[in-house]
Amino acid sequence: MRELTVRAPAKINLTLDILRKRPDGYHDLKMVMQSISLGDTLQIRSDTGRKEIIVHTRGANLPDGPENLAWKAAQIFFDKTGIFNNGVAIEIEKHILLCAGMAGGSSDGAAVLRALRQLYCPGLEDCTLEEMGALVGSDVPFCVRGGTALAEGRGEILTALPRMPECRLVICKPNFGISTPELFGRVQAEQLRHHPDTAAMRSALASGTLLEVAGNLCNVFEEILNEKERSSIAAIEKVMLKHGALNAVMTGSGPTVFGLFSPKGSAAEEAAGVLKARWPQVFLAEPL
Ligand code: C5P
Repeated sequence: MRELTVRAPAKINLTLDILRKRPDGYHDLKMVMQSISLGDTLQIRSDTGRKEIIVHTRGANLPDGPENLAWKAAQIFFDKTGIFNNGVAIEIEKHILLCAGMAGGSSDGAAVLRALRQLYCPGLEDCTLEEMGALVGSDVPFCVRGGTALAEGRGEILTALPRMPECRLVICKPNFGISTPELFGRVQAEQLRHHPDTAAMRSALASGTLLEVAGNLCNVFEEILNEKERSSIAAIEKVMLKHGALNAVMTGSGPTVFGLFSPKGSAAEEAAGVLKARWPQVFLAEPL
């Protein structure tokens, strides 16, 4: 039996644009994605001798079968590589918020792919692992790669971008979840009015100017929230901006909001303290 412990970082969207609905039911997207220091930890044991995939999650009540992206990733890895599965046990220590727009499940799936590659076939190329990731879920290829990247197509066409400038992030989730398929179902791509300036975000990253990165944060999903969702998101953003955030925006399909703060001073901690009084799910993080 062999054992490996791997990190599964959450992601935030610096930008999220929806271009069009595709014939396959998915949407063509254009997003600048960023891995962050908040993440899950996975312990993978291979060759357990039980010839099946066993998933157990600590810290959250999650399915332990094919609906869990960690399980699905392991199944796809064995199918695609043809490696005989002599039993794998995956223990997930959950820290990433659920149904939050932070790719928690996708990141666990990506971590399983990276761990199984290391355990069974270290020579497997990154692009092959990312292709397997695309079969697990749209955000998984980015999570396999990590860092800062432009994601296009369904999310699987990746272009590496310069690292995000140093900053602090305050992450806050209101006490409701948003279903990703349900939110995509509300989208009328041609009716969206405010699109992110992805080129401006790319040049902000290229010049390493935090204020410009902050000024270009934008997520089209904010436009199609219902009244109740919109007012909760706006309330969190308002508190963040009042307490020193350079800007604040919803990540992914939400409802989590993140605020971007200067790396200097204590504004991020102070804002987190204020937010916690109203919304208990508040975290401090940094870009990776
Ligand atoms: O690929 P994944 O299973 O993570 O996607 C979840 C759902 O989100 C899809 O069923 C689809 O409704 C929606 N989606 C989309 N376009 C994308 C990614 C996801 O419409 N590019």
